[in-house]
Amino acid sequence: MLKCQRNKFSITKEYVYLNCAYMSPLLQSVHDAGLAGLIQKSFPQEVYPDDFFTPANALRQEFATLINAAHKDRIAIIPSASYGLANAANNITLESHQNIIVLGEQFPSNIYIWQKLAAKNNANIITVHAPNATENRAKIWNERLLSTINANTKVIAIAVVHWADGTLFDLKAIRKRADEVGALLIIDGTQSVGALPFDVQEIRPDALVCTGYKWLMGPYSIGVAYYGEYFDDGEPIEENWKNRLESQNFSQLVNYQPKYKPMAQRYNVGEFGNFIQVPMLTEAIRQLNEWGVEQINEYCHILIQKPLRVFKNMGFWIESPEYCSPHLFGVRLPKHINIEKLQQQFQEDRIKVSIRGNSVRIAPHVYNDRNDFERLVAAFEKVSK
Ligand SMILES: Cc1ncc(COP(=O)(O)O)c(C=O)c1O
Repeated sequence: MLKCQRNKFSITKEYVYLNCAYMSPLLQSVHDAGLAGLIQKSFPQEVYPDDFFTPANALRQEFATLINAAHKDRIAIIPSASYGLANAANNITLESHQNIIVLGEQFPSNIYIWQKLAAKNNANIITVHAPNATENRAKIWNERLLSTINANTKVIAIAVVHWADGTLFDLKAIRKRADEVGALLIIDGTQSVGALPFDVQEIRPDALVCTGYKWLMGPYSIGVAYYGEYFDDGEPIEENWKNRLESQNFSQLVNYQPKYKPMAQRYNVGEFGNFIQVPMLTEAIRQLNEWGVEQINEYCHILIQKPLRVFKNMGFWIESPEYCSPHLFGVRLPKHINIEKLQQQFQEDRIKVSIRGNSVRIAPHVYNDRNDFERLVAAFEKVSK
């Protein structure tokens, strides 16, 4: 069983940081990897052609291991979730009777591109909203999603967990239904991959995109995407020379090469071999692989059991455990709690969580401990009186 890993991170006990869903802190080792990259660029005589490719391959391999992808070349390096999704959408055409399914209040990176694609093809977007209920809310939402998928569905563009409250979607059942109707399954794993086990061989997403700065614990502006076979012959949104065959051979670059590298390699962003960010994200995912995602999830699970009981006793509403992962969950507050007072209390007590409407989003990781949750509970108690 994992122990608290705070000493490996930049954060101290001064703050209760329960907001990895916003942005992770950096591991000391990730910070050091970034500094080494910065120093390397200061001495360009030390930058060799291999440095544009070999570290990027190491990153692809770490992420492939994390999600159990059979080949690292199925992984592309992207600057943002929006970019990874744009590459997917760029290779999908719909007929006007077809539809794209998304979830209510989904993160905009996984909405705008589908709105654009639907408009371009004169096709429909169907939004599956959460029920206006507290009892069986996630169960009903999942059922609604499954029953909305039909023979006209071309794309199901969803997330593993809802970014705002952590509602978990049953990807196995959704994949099965997608197979029945021949729909593509495009997943935004930004709020789950790294903290909740995800196996691409089991779920078989057609594409999976993840930003690096949250649960992958990397820097901002770099992420990773997995593209399945559907996208193997696709058209990337930009023509980055490093994605062409033999691009490592710098002396032959103007013998222009019409062929791309295999699998997902055509979807890497230009200048993907970023000397600072690539080693940082590689080291972060290496550490996640060393800890094990199941162990990270188990750590969070154990940590939240007592606070969950306290929250329920205080009258807070929380999704049932089978539809909620311990790394990201929302607590809905009873009406008598004044949100502004709560926000003030959090500020005074140096507690960092996200507040949305009358819900508080709590997102722990292995740097949190029982004391963090005791301080969070104490803050809630002060404003509940
Ligand atoms: C679910 C989800 N997807 C994506 C992102 C980030 O998107 P992008 O990388 O396009 O800025 C966020 C940021 O909060 C998010 O919560």
